[in-house]
Amino acid sequence: MPWRLLPTMPSICHPLMNPPPELDTAMEHTLPALPFAIDALAPHYSKETLEFHHGKHHNAYVVNLNNLQKGTDFESMTLEEIVRKSSGGIYNNSAQIWNHTFFWNCMKPAGGGEPSGALAAAINSKWGSYTAFKEAFVKSAVGNFGSGWTWLVKKPDGTVDIVNMGAAGTPLTTSDTALLTVDVWEHAYYIDYRNMRPKFVETFLDKLANWSFAEKNFS
Ligand code: FE2
Repeated sequence: MPWRLLPTMPSICHPLMNPPPELDTAMEHTLPALPFAIDALAPHYSKETLEFHHGKHHNAYVVNLNNLQKGTDFESMTLEEIVRKSSGGIYNNSAQIWNHTFFWNCMKPAGGGEPSGALAAAINSKWGSYTAFKEAFVKSAVGNFGSGWTWLVKKPDGTVDIVNMGAAGTPLTTSDTALLTVDVWEHAYYIDYRNMRPKFVETFLDKLANWSFAEKNFS
């Protein structure tokens, strides 16, 4: 099943001061909690990196979106609807919220290794072996110029592919299904890896990747 971000709950209104809840469809977005303890990915992805990446960067997108959507039709939409229908600042911040929440789920303590089952078969069919896929994924992520995201996606025909996207790009706006992603904005790796993006992407695959999450997205 493709991963779905749970919609944010509608804001609660005081019955005497605000419209009744059934008339108030405004939705305040909140920063989703990490799916693991903040120090659980160390030493490959440190607590300090997550304090900044999740607590500062991801949170800033949430704050920005809540400010930007005030008084617009986007206030009553789910996050995924906003990503699909918006542009400019509202798109950038909503897509970055979705991408980061997806990215946290792409990592787990003692992750890495190789996928199994149908996803492994699809990867072998496309690249010949996991080793060849890994080489292609790292090469793609390292060559993703500037800030962006490198995705493993499922195409509408059921095959898999690697897609580079810049800035707040997300497969949510395409016909592809996101399976796994690595954030290649410098804020994702500079504290732990400095300028060594290749080392970060290799470590992401070898030690952090949550293949069971990708397998669920593929099924
Ligand atoms: Fe990021």
